[in-house]
Amino acid sequence: MSKNQLKLLDESGLAGLKITEVNGRELVCEGSKVIDFCGTNYLGFDFQPELLQRGEQYGRRWGTMCGWSRLEADPAIYKDVEARICKLTGAPRALLSHTITITNFSVLPVIAQKGLILVDRKLHTVVWEACRLARDHGAGVEKFEHQDLNHLETLLKKHKNSHPRVIAVDGVYSISTELAPIRELQMLCKKYDAWLYVDDAHGFGVLGSDPSASNAHGKGGGGVVSHFNGNYDRTFYVSSFGKAFCTHSGFITLPGEFTDNLPAKALSHIYSAPVSPHTLGTVDAALDLNERIGDGERAKIRQLVQYFCDGVRRLGYEIENHRLHPVIFVPIGELSELIVAAKALLAGGVFTGLRAYPVVPENECGVRFAITSLHTKAHLDQALKVLGQLDVSKARRKCSNVAA
Ligand SMILES: Cc1ncc(COP(=O)(O)O)c(C=O)c1O
Repeated sequence: MSKNQLKLLDESGLAGLKITEVNGRELVCEGSKVIDFCGTNYLGFDFQPELLQRGEQYGRRWGTMCGWSRLEADPAIYKDVEARICKLTGAPRALLSHTITITNFSVLPVIAQKGLILVDRKLHTVVWEACRLARDHGAGVEKFEHQDLNHLETLLKKHKNSHPRVIAVDGVYSISTELAPIRELQMLCKKYDAWLYVDDAHGFGVLGSDPSASNAHGKGGGGVVSHFNGNYDRTFYVSSFGKAFCTHSGFITLPGEFTDNLPAKALSHIYSAPVSPHTLGTVDAALDLNERIGDGERAKIRQLVQYFCDGVRRLGYEIENHRLHPVIFVPIGELSELIVAAKALLAGGVFTGLRAYPVVPENECGVRFAITSLHTKAHLDQALKVLGQLDVSKARRKCSNVAA
C-alpha cells in the first residue's frame, strides 16, 4: 500500500509551521519573514475593519454563542444570512452549517439514503469521505472517470433502478482548476431523474455570472452554478465563507423538494450549536463588501494570476489554469524533490501549499500557490525568482493533471 506522504512531509518539519505574525500576506513563520501563498483567502477581506467591527457588533447583541441547536431555537441572524446566500447564488433555500466538511457528513447520507452516489474520480477527499459514510448507511457508491460524461451516462443507465441517484463533483478542482460542466451535468440529472451535488469551495466568491473574454471570472462571485447560468432545480450547492470570503461557515443550498424536510435530518442542524454570532457578523459584512468591491478585487486577482502564470511558464513549468482561477499548481516530482524544493522556497521567503500523495499521485508532488487580491507584483516577483532557482529538471516541470 502507498505510504501517506503527507505524514512524511510532517516528519520533514514541513507541516504545521509556526506563524507568529501576520501582516497581510507577509508572515513571520518559524522566525523568518515569508510571503504567504498557502492561504486561500482570495478576496483579501481578512484585514477589513468592516468585518472585524460587524463581528464585534453581532457578539455584543447576541453573545459569544447561541447555545441552542437550530432545530431547538433559531435566532434571526442565521435565517438572514441564508437569505443573502440565496440572493447571491440564485438558489431557493440555503442552510448554514459550520464547514464544508461538516456539511458533507451531515447531509450527504441523508440525501443519498439507500440509493447510489456516482462520484467523479477526482472528487475532493472531504466529499469522498462523506460518500463512505453514506455507504455505511446503505447507499451504493461508484466512481466515474474524471469529467467523463459518457461514462457517467453509462452508469446512470446501468443503475436505472437505484433511487435516488446523486452525482457528486467539485465545482472547481482544487489542483487543476478545471470547472465541472454544470449545464451538461444538470441535463443528465433531468434526463435520468438524478441529483447533482457540487462542492464549490474554490468557485464561490471567485466565479460569477456572465463571464466574458475580458472578465474570465464573471460578475458577483455567486459560484460555479451562476457562472454557467445553471439552475438549482436538482442541484445541491455546497460551499463556505472560509476561502474567498475570508471568514467562516459552510452552507448548502436545497432544491425545492428538500427545503422542508432536510434541515430536520441534518446532524449539524439537529445537534450542534451554530457558528458564533461574531462569525456570522463577519460573514454579513463580507457579503456587503463583496457587493461593493468584490468585482474590483476579482479584477485585481485576474491581473496578478495572469502575470504569475506567464512568469511560471517562462521558467519552463507546464501549469494548468482555467479562467484565471487564483490557484496555480506547480509540478515538482517525487516526494524527496518536493521536500528539497519546499525548503528552498521557504529559505527564499516563499510559503506555499505542499501537495503530495494522497492528494496527488505519488511521483507527481508539487507546490500550490494561491493568489489573493492582497498580493503585490513584488510578492509574485519574489516567488518567481525563487522558483527559477529551484533545481527541478525540465522533465519534472510537467503537470499530468492526475490528482486526488
Ligand atoms: C474542494 C474542497 N472542499 C472542501 C474543503 C474543506 O472545506 P472546509 O474547510 O469548509 O471543510 C476544501 C479545503 O481545502 C476543498 O479544497
